Amino acid sequence: MRPSTETLWANQDQHQGDRLRLFAAVSGLNGVDEIVSRNKTYRQSHLVEFIADDYRGEVGLAEQDFDLLVSLYAGFVSEHCTRYLRVGGHLLVNASHGDAAMASIDRRYRLAAVIKSGGPNGYRVDVRDLDAYLIPNQPQALTADRLHQLGRGIGYTKSPFAYLFERIS
Ligand SMILES: C[S@@+](CC[C@H](N)C(=O)[O-])C[C@H]1O[C@@H](n2cnc3c(N)ncnc32)[C@H](O)[C@@H]1O
Repeated sequence: MRPSTETLWANQDQHQGDRLRLFAAVSGLNGVDEIVSRNKTYRQSHLVEFIADDYRGEVGLAEQDFDLLVSLYAGFVSEHCTRYLRVGGHLLVNASHGDAAMASIDRRYRLAAVIKSGGPNGYRVDVRDLDAYLIPNQPQALTADRLHQLGRGIGYTKSPFAYLFERIS
């Protein structure tokens, strides 16, 4: 394992400060640190690296070399970038652009936690009652083609800020 934990972040914009607070909540000491760091075999803290590139192309990263992949309001990042995530690594994703739905039908993932607004850092992590999430408001057959057609997320009975999936295969 490399002596650092790296995060592929698709882009930067005016919400970067807010996203960094979210990242602090997720990778900080609020419970998920234990989840994200489960595979960590080194003492150093996480390293966050920003990559300004099109995530659909070759971005020069090694496959299955990352512990955390972040996909917030940026399209189907998981479709193109899961290959960089090692098995046992995590995908932080929200529903807005459909990528949470995409991850929910991707057999390489299982839901590990939900991220809710609130708490000392503005976000908190909940690992309870996960079966109660990702239930569509309107029953429908979800496929990758359908999600591409929609080009956005679907409505769920519960709407946490984001989801944390573990790559399991
Ligand atoms: C609504 S912003 C969200 C930005 C950030 N993820 C956040 O949560 O604040 C959508 C961003 O996705 C980026 N984006 C869309 N498709 C992309 C791609 N194929 N590769 C890299 N960035 C992409 C856009 O450049 C834009 O900055």
